[in-house]
Amino acid sequence: MRTCIKFAESKLINYKPINLPTILAIESSCDETAAAVCIDGRIVSNIIATQKVHEQYGGVVPELASRAHMQNIVPVVHEALKKSGCTMDQLDAIAFTQAPGLIGALLVGAQFAKSLSLALQIPLIAVHHMQAHVLANLIDDPKPEFPFLCLTVSGGHTQIVQCNSPTDMKVIGQTIDDAAGEAFDKSAKLLGLPYPGGPLVDKYAKQGNPLAYKFPEPKIPGLDFSFSGLKTSILYFLQNAGKSNVYKESFLATEEDKALFIKNNLPDICASIQQRIISILLNKLQKAAEETGIKNICVAGGVSANSGLRSGLQSLGDSVGWNVFIPAFEYCTDNAAMIAITGYYKFLNNDFIQLDAPVTARAEW
Ligand code: KG4
Ligand code: ZN
Repeated sequence: MRTCIKFAESKLINYKPINLPTILAIESSCDETAAAVCIDGRIVSNIIATQKVHEQYGGVVPELASRAHMQNIVPVVHEALKKSGCTMDQLDAIAFTQAPGLIGALLVGAQFAKSLSLALQIPLIAVHHMQAHVLANLIDDPKPEFPFLCLTVSGGHTQIVQCNSPTDMKVIGQTIDDAAGEAFDKSAKLLGLPYPGGPLVDKYAKQGNPLAYKFPEPKIPGLDFSFSGLKTSILYFLQNAGKSNVYKESFLATEEDKALFIKNNLPDICASIQQRIISILLNKLQKAAEETGIKNICVAGGVSANSGLRSGLQSLGDSVGWNVFIPAFEYCTDNAAMIAITGYYKFLNNDFIQLDAPVTARAEW
């Protein structure tokens, strides 16, 4: 391992002594091209280029995502190294997202990481994107003690994960249909809001009454989730211009009435939808905590940026005596810092892969 000196405004501000593992991490599983550098478990740079090209299509277009990753990856990695004060020859390993994700998007990050690993003759670390979301909770202090439970809520996944150590975790509950992020994004789409709608529902919900409208809570056994029924009920609710959330031909409103209803009640509708998504999530999380007896509770994934979920989790935790951990905003949505911290623990375990390791769109744990 080599020394690394970090400069800012030409002044030496940091010094990496010999033998502190320095890892460059790359994330490219969906529509964020990201790179981060981690020195001995401390994130020293975290750069994200969010692809705007998808907005006009109302969702991520896989081919466009791959192309944008190819354009972004060199400047993003360059910037992450520059911010860290490290040069390529000071890196000890390269970590990258191997799965799950869009296959073409994953391939761009993987090929880049493999090429660097080959050129620099340093080991390669494969990271599972969902495990990395969980370990985002180990980036900042205070860190949760093991074991902890993590509610991982992203655009493609909704899981309750029991984490016994950085390298030992298991999914104990998950969605049987849509993910929580999809529930936000699809609701937003029905309301005519652009993609990704989650942050916009959050924004309007802040000015609305969460008790204005009632949406049903699904009755799914065990620790699993379901959001598809909620989506259907929102669809009927809007088709009926708020008169009912079950299908009733006699209530069906004209497109004009529906648009007017949404326009006049957007904050209340968003607050009520958000409230139901959050109650579905927190009720199952509480059940998991009761069943496992674990009181260290974390949250992760893009939906954990939601202000209602963050405050709801904190107040539930206060009332039932949990130690609640919520990552900083920049570590909730997709980022490479979480890949770097996961890579760091794998590095300590000598958990490396060969250059011919494939990427996979889906990956079981
Ligand atoms: O973890 P993430 O960045 O990407 C995936 O791995 O899927 O999660 C993206 C999801 C999207 O569905 C987005 O709408 C949602 O996170 N999201 C939010 C908020 N910020 C991002 N949902 C609700 N409220 C937010 N503030
Ligand atoms: Zn993610």
